[in-house]
Amino acid sequence: MESKNDLLLRVAKGEKTERTPVWLMRQAGRILPEYRVVRESARDFKTLVKNPALATEVTLQPVDILGVDAAIIFSDILVIPEAMGLNYEMEEKRGPVFPKRIERESDLDSIHVCEADELGYVLEAIRLTKQALNGRVPLIGFAGAPWTIFSYMIEGKGSKTFSEAKKMLYTQPAFSHRLLDMITESTILYLKGQIEAGADIIQIFDSWAGILSPDQYEEFSLRYISRICDAIPEVPKTVFAKGAFFARKAMNNIACNVVGLDWNMSIAESRALVPGKALQGSLDPCALYGSLDDVRRETRRMLDAFGPYGHIANLGHGLYPDTEVDKVKCFIDTVKEYSTTLRK
Ligand code: CP3
Repeated sequence: MESKNDLLLRVAKGEKTERTPVWLMRQAGRILPEYRVVRESARDFKTLVKNPALATEVTLQPVDILGVDAAIIFSDILVIPEAMGLNYEMEEKRGPVFPKRIERESDLDSIHVCEADELGYVLEAIRLTKQALNGRVPLIGFAGAPWTIFSYMIEGKGSKTFSEAKKMLYTQPAFSHRLLDMITESTILYLKGQIEAGADIIQIFDSWAGILSPDQYEEFSLRYISRICDAIPEVPKTVFAKGAFFARKAMNNIACNVVGLDWNMSIAESRALVPGKALQGSLDPCALYGSLDDVRRETRRMLDAFGPYGHIANLGHGLYPDTEVDKVKCFIDTVKEYSTTLRK
């Protein structure tokens, strides 16, 4: 019986650990040939997401192949809008597309606050993954932040500016709050379902945080993230708001345990702004395009800046699909080795 690795949970709870835990956003995915085989066997991305046995298989791959200190359940943030009534398609090369989007207030009549069991396939994948992990590493559950989900529901696809979504905030703030409220309620029920099924920690992804002004961020995003954190006292929570350097101080005051950083955010400055929480991140995914020596150097530099405690090593955003597996392994091994020596 392997000994239990709960480094990630201990750091999230503010404990000192014998080394720094490490995992990577998008660790299950196209960088792994083993993932591509399973992905081919399923008809498409959504078939994979909706098949609990296959989703479990690809969730476990990075734990077995890369040696990360956590598994993150294989799914997508867009399962929430789908369960609320807005179907999405994942188009090869283009990304997600919603055939029908929310354009006006009356469109809210065609969607609903969803219950956790409407996402039963994710909950089943969590149960299967927990069984298979048998305590080897913690399992991370996740959801998108209401603002990021709102953006997809209004735009109907990805966007550089998300100007349709931002237009709503300026021109129809009351309607915007109504939709954000529905997404928030759905997300709370969903995350509670994930925890009941076995998720040990929750991460909230606010991928489009960085396109709002500080005041807008407070009103249309952080308020809802804070409500989600308050509603989920059961497990530790991580908030990763990409690009929201201006919100770090406010993040220190919400009921999350870990704040995720991207590579634009100075590590020393973040420590000063968020003294009360563990930090996660934040190597530029492009640093993994360098040589093995480059990867080791940049990883050590990151670990020196964070210091030994209160840090969960990760990238500053998801892995890019064309990253070489040996560079990813080098990042993980360097964190494990160098963070141990940092404590001596
Ligand atoms: O390993 C993990 O991190 C867990 C799985 C995971 C996926 N998506 C699988 C996925 C997680 C945590 C997500 C979150 C997600 N999805 C976010 C937030 C994080 C971020 O990147 O900012 C967002 C914005 C999405 C929406 C989404 N899903 C987009 C824009 C795309 C297309 C871009 C791309 O990378 O292809 C996806 C597709 C997607 N989600 C893939 C994977 C593995 C690739 C599709 C494939 O394998 O065919």
